Amino acid sequence: MQRLARKWQRAGRRIGFVPTMGYLHAGHLSLVQRARQAVGQNGIVVVSIYVNPTQFAPTEDLARYPRNLKRDLKMCRAAGVDVVFTPGDKEMYPDEIRSRRCESADVPRFDNRGCGTYVVEESLSQTMEGAARPTHFRGVTTVVAKLFNLVLPDVAVFGAKDWQQAAVIKRMVKDLNFPVRIIVAPTWREADGLAMSSRNKYLAGDLRRQATVLWCGIQIARAAVKKLKTYPAAKLKTAVKRLVECEPDARLDYVELFEPDTLSPVPTVKRGTHMALAVFVGKTRLIDNARL
Ligand code: PAJ
Repeated sequence: MQRLARKWQRAGRRIGFVPTMGYLHAGHLSLVQRARQAVGQNGIVVVSIYVNPTQFAPTEDLARYPRNLKRDLKMCRAAGVDVVFTPGDKEMYPDEIRSRRCESADVPRFDNRGCGTYVVEESLSQTMEGAARPTHFRGVTTVVAKLFNLVLPDVAVFGAKDWQQAAVIKRMVKDLNFPVRIIVAPTWREADGLAMSSRNKYLAGDLRRQATVLWCGIQIARAAVKKLKTYPAAKLKTAVKRLVECEPDARLDYVELFEPDTLSPVPTVKRGTHMALAVFVGKTRLIDNARL
């Protein structure tokens, strides 16, 4: 991959990169279009498909994460992707990936599984997803740094769907001087507002309907800000919690109101404040966020 990328670089072709874990949907493809727009017709658009084990905790859904490479490749071809990079665990983490099935949930926070060197962002990754999933962002920043070193992109496109992830990546790029421009592209949604996600595949029967509660939560927050201009964050959090509790199989993991760039929590919500929430719907953990 790196050899190819250097060849393109020498030929003066710009490289646009969209990292994914596959099981692609229209949200992913919108990032591909954005990358194409950024590098032009003479540029190269690379998509990576790799379900990265180091960003999953042992208790999470790594083994059953949905995969369909054949379908993904077809979608990439139709979307005008030039190269799909699909490394395996042996290439990405040659030394220390072991079977996770026999591991218990109480592994130490910083163990040596996966690799010996990690990239850790220690500021923006502490709240929300980072608090709920303690080793998650370490896995994300490590694999994205590795992928940047392999694909050598001029531009990389991330989705606003994972707002905190995009913020953490931007911070890593700035702090470590990666020569990459990061673009954050809008969240794509189903007709009923549910943010597109590979994990939506898990939502069988009535769970799919209940999953719209995340979008409903965003809607009530937007309505409150629109009507009252300012609103106490604590009161809004309670309202969202109550709303989620109305669904039989939904459980709120967190809801946070924060400044979009710094991710700092705000006591008072106003126009432009960002809201993010994580909800278990059955066993599936869904996240969403939006500007209010
Ligand atoms: P994955 O969940 O496959 O998402 C890949 C990219 O698609 C991310 O930038 C994500 O924000 C974006 N995306 C997902 N759903 C979207 C939607 N509904 N609308 C717009 N963009 C959407 O995020 C990851 O993979 C991984 O953490 C990764 C960055 C690849 C590192 O392993």
